[in-house]
Amino acid sequence: EPEVIRDKEAMRRWSRGMRSQGKKIGLVPTMGFLHDGHLSLVRQSLALSDVTVVSIYVNPGQFSPTEDLSTYPSDFSGDLAKLAALSTSASDVIVFSPTEDLSTYPSDFSGDLAKLAALSTSASDVIVVFNPRNLYDYDGDDGGGRKKTNGGGGGERVVSCVEEGGGLGHETWVRVERLEKGLCGKSRPVFFRGVATIVTKLFNIVEPDVAMFGKKDYQQWRIIQRMVRDLDFGIEIVGSDIAREKDGLAMSSRNVHLSAEERQKALSISRSLAMAKASAEAGQTSCTELKDMIIQEIVGAAGKIDYVEIVDQKTLEGVEEIKSGVVICVAAWFGTVRLIDNIEISVA
Ligand code: PAJ
Repeated sequence: EPEVIRDKEAMRRWSRGMRSQGKKIGLVPTMGFLHDGHLSLVRQSLALSDVTVVSIYVNPGQFSPTEDLSTYPSDFSGDLAKLAALSTSASDVIVFSPTEDLSTYPSDFSGDLAKLAALSTSASDVIVVFNPRNLYDYDGDDGGGRKKTNGGGGGERVVSCVEEGGGLGHETWVRVERLEKGLCGKSRPVFFRGVATIVTKLFNIVEPDVAMFGKKDYQQWRIIQRMVRDLDFGIEIVGSDIAREKDGLAMSSRNVHLSAEERQKALSISRSLAMAKASAEAGQTSCTELKDMIIQEIVGAAGKIDYVEIVDQKTLEGVEEIKSGVVICVAAWFGTVRLIDNIEISVA
């Protein structure tokens, strides 16, 4: 089984040790519940680097209050109260692990380890799993000089997640101002701020040479690329093709929440994207026509559309006529599950 590191200082020590031995370090950031999409990123990292760090961390900073309101606030304030009763020596028994708080997000840590162990690696390959308890834990001080262990008001502060990091003791955010606005940024206004910030933290802790991102989350990949360029991280960002189930459904940790019927209906997303691409390749140049085709297919399968957009692959700005280098992006709800998918078009 891969070694598990839970502490960010230990993580940084490990990385610097590897670097001093001349090893190239690959990083695959994830939120766990690994599937073949994640594993393809791990494989790619193994091929591109000497050692690979897979981080497994469900990042509370990228979930807005409305997305987890039902469980997250009350769990967190309860955890704060329990922490208040702990002595300092027991402080590593931290119970406000965001992974546990976000109970709606599926997790299967031992399953994840087994899957990683089963990846055949050459003798010199190393996979380390970085599974921190809480990356926003600043020694009990929330950054405003207030001790978390004082408790009280925890609930309200979590609700104000959008404003001040949900009582996570965090007030510094990385924003990629234009790219974060469209597509998923419209319905999830704090999502990319949370992603860019946690990825920055992971980059600073792991200090990788190369990091893998899936094109499944196309906008996320472009945002991280842009952030790395704008802020001179000096890390190579690799975008990896979408891994799909045999029937076309894009793999996602959230698919597990789909009922059998919803899952069947959700196939309308990948099916309609393939249809639109074929139509574009056959000469259809009107993006309105192509989008309508997709909307009809998804709505016909009782999906609720968040957005269907055809955008430039680099700028993510909407286009009206099909040209080379565009990507069709879709987000739609099936039951309580929001799914995203996309397809690149390279016809002229
Ligand atoms: P998560 O959803 O766990 O995804 C981790 C990585 O796997 C992302 O780069 C994502 O694009 C990639 N991935 C997911 N499904 C994929 C698929 N079907 N094919 C190819 N790649 C796929 O994305 C996140 O976590 C988080 O936002 C994170 C970057 C870890 C920051 O918290």
